[in-house]
Amino acid sequence: ERYRDSKDGDKMNPFAEQEAWEDHQIGKATLKYGSKNKKQADDYNFVFEDQIEFIQGQVMGGVNVDDEVNEEEYEKSIAKSAHEKLLADRKTLPVYPYRESLLKAVEDHQVLVIVGETGSGKTTQIPQYLHEAGYTKRGMIGCTQPRRVAAMSVAARVSQEMNVKLGHEVGYSIRFEDCTSDKTVLKYMTDGMLLREFLGEPDLQSYSVVMVDEAHERTLSTDILFGLVKDIARFRPDLKLLISSATLDAEKFSDYFDSAPIFKIPGRRFPVEINYTKAPEADYLDAAIVTALQIHVTQPPGDGDILVFLTGQEEIETAEEILKHRTRGLGSKIAELIICPIYANLPTELQAKIFEPTPEGARKVVLATNIAETSLTIDGIKYVIDPGFVKMKSYNPRTGMESLLITPISKASANQRAGRSGRTGPGKCFRLYTAYNYFNDLDDNTVPEIQRTNLANVVLSLKSLGIHDLLNFDFMDPPPAEALLKALELLFALSALNKHGELTKVGRKMAEFPLDPMLSKMIVASDKYKCSDEIISIAAMLSIGSSIFYRPKDKQVHADNARLNFHMGNVGDHIALLKVYSSWKETNFSTQWCYENYIQVRSMKRARDIRDQLEGLLERVEIELVSNPGDLEAIKKSITSGYFPHSAKMQKNGSYRTVKHPQTVYIHPSSGLAQVLPRWVVYHELVLTTKEYMRQVSELKPEWLVEIAPHYYQLKDVEDLASKKMPRGEGRASKD
Ligand code: CDP
Ligand code: MG
Repeated sequence: ERYRDSKDGDKMNPFAEQEAWEDHQIGKATLKYGSKNKKQADDYNFVFEDQIEFIQGQVMGGVNVDDEVNEEEYEKSIAKSAHEKLLADRKTLPVYPYRESLLKAVEDHQVLVIVGETGSGKTTQIPQYLHEAGYTKRGMIGCTQPRRVAAMSVAARVSQEMNVKLGHEVGYSIRFEDCTSDKTVLKYMTDGMLLREFLGEPDLQSYSVVMVDEAHERTLSTDILFGLVKDIARFRPDLKLLISSATLDAEKFSDYFDSAPIFKIPGRRFPVEINYTKAPEADYLDAAIVTALQIHVTQPPGDGDILVFLTGQEEIETAEEILKHRTRGLGSKIAELIICPIYANLPTELQAKIFEPTPEGARKVVLATNIAETSLTIDGIKYVIDPGFVKMKSYNPRTGMESLLITPISKASANQRAGRSGRTGPGKCFRLYTAYNYFNDLDDNTVPEIQRTNLANVVLSLKSLGIHDLLNFDFMDPPPAEALLKALELLFALSALNKHGELTKVGRKMAEFPLDPMLSKMIVASDKYKCSDEIISIAAMLSIGSSIFYRPKDKQVHADNARLNFHMGNVGDHIALLKVYSSWKETNFSTQWCYENYIQVRSMKRARDIRDQLEGLLERVEIELVSNPGDLEAIKKSITSGYFPHSAKMQKNGSYRTVKHPQTVYIHPSSGLAQVLPRWVVYHELVLTTKEYMRQVSELKPEWLVEIAPHYYQLKDVEDLASKKMPRGEGRASKD
């Protein structure tokens, strides 16, 4: 039951929905496929039974027919070799005819705002043009991307186009992964990485051009970069600054950059037919799958691929399983459906699959997060299925709580999504919400991240750049003052800032780590508790970003047992993560061991890479690598030194109350302590699904809080009243 209620996939059993589907399917499959002689249309009935009714809406502004172009133009040039074809393709991109005028504009202006629709060639071509024009003789061309996957895949594409090895002339740099070399002249990187580069090189001297790409995404790092690059452009007249965006809302960027000229790359768009559901959909994942199958079986194979926007990895994996299962049963009755997932943590090898051309007679269905909205362009998409949701960070500055929430998208987002279907021919977009919803419920634009996130990380970076007056920092859209204050407060509590708001020695060390301040504080504190070795393993495991354990459907019991092994003695999730890492290390990083223990070997390899880098950073901040595996208390005290603001005390009925800003929370069902329910806990993060869940939880002694953070907790906060009241409380509960 507990696993069923969550919609965003943060549940422990991602297959719960699949099981539900299977029950449903088996009945129908026998019904429909009992006789071989039925005509084809009948075979498809399984889909029609669940058919979702759409009504056609108006063609939206933003997805109208701008310049209709005839398809021949795209279908020229079938070159001999693959590379020749790539070169030929470069010339078909909308940006190509503007190559010379663009170069001229860059020459004439220091700052240029570039606007062009997604897929017009901004990211892959413009840096190459500048390279060809000689800009890289004076320094690198850096191009920032809000997303890691985009940075990697675009760099890979450009290296192919330039016929060089990835990591040589063309490279990428993302957190914990630097794929560049001395040779690198075109560097694609996440916006967060460029922000970190400022720490080492405040004038970005090694760059001749900085292109802040996908500026419309307005990520936190991009917004901060705006302020920083605007500033350095003043005293580095030789630095060229390009701000590129996929939306027409470029005036705002231009205004911010002192009326920088706007260079527009005219798009080509085919008409997109918009369809809305007649009534709201109760289960958008279900509706998305049914719609995808409906399109697949009713439309001729080869006429175009399908792109489905989902909210996250686990939701995508669930959809993939269901689709595989449903199409498997149909065998040769339907054309092949190639399922391609794409999300930030998808291993690089698998990412390439979405760009592979669809074989003849088959159809591709791409299951993507918002990454496919503007960051990535997948050719051949004709149908877009848009459930209308995105997983978005939200932040409550009052409590300092951050959660990832599944939120309705904005109109701007909906139109971007729809537009993805009309790139290479007329497209169709299926919105799994009503026209009324679209017009009345959706916001016009997505709120920039800076206004809905915890700013502690950014404030720490800015402070270490020597920027003290944050309230007067040149923000394009300033964050709420309350959020800034909250960040200062947290950094003060973590001893990263002194009471004058100046960076302390601890803060300076923390800023060296590309991690959340609480995580870096935990590492810095491990010096004192003599367990830095264990703590960086835990920090690495917490930073993987994808799940460590897997649970194959036919071996759930085995998988659960293997997992419980690491939780033996109710050590808590942090120590369990450490045990996983240490055990793997003991087997000399064996893949076989991972299989036997139902552990994702890829996640572990990533943890190892991250750990290696953290080890290098320890040296830089002069923290000795000391191992103390037996002293669990020392390890948990280090954790508490970073995470003391995340402490909670048990109430009744398995609920907890956070200590500082009282709020009711629960231990996530995937935690090893979910059944144990210790009285006091410290947690890594909160995730809101059906309830506010604490994820990665360890037991805590309340006296540690006053010992570690006397400036934050007073004795009265941690007096263990619960222990005195417990028997009475329990008696009452059972009478109820
Ligand atoms: O940045 P913008 O959205 O304007 O376009 P782009 O990312 O430079 O993409 C231009 C074209 O390059 C796309 O239409 C794709 O055909 C191709 N591309 C690709 O095949 N693989 C990638 N990883 C990125 C782009
Ligand atoms: Mg781009």
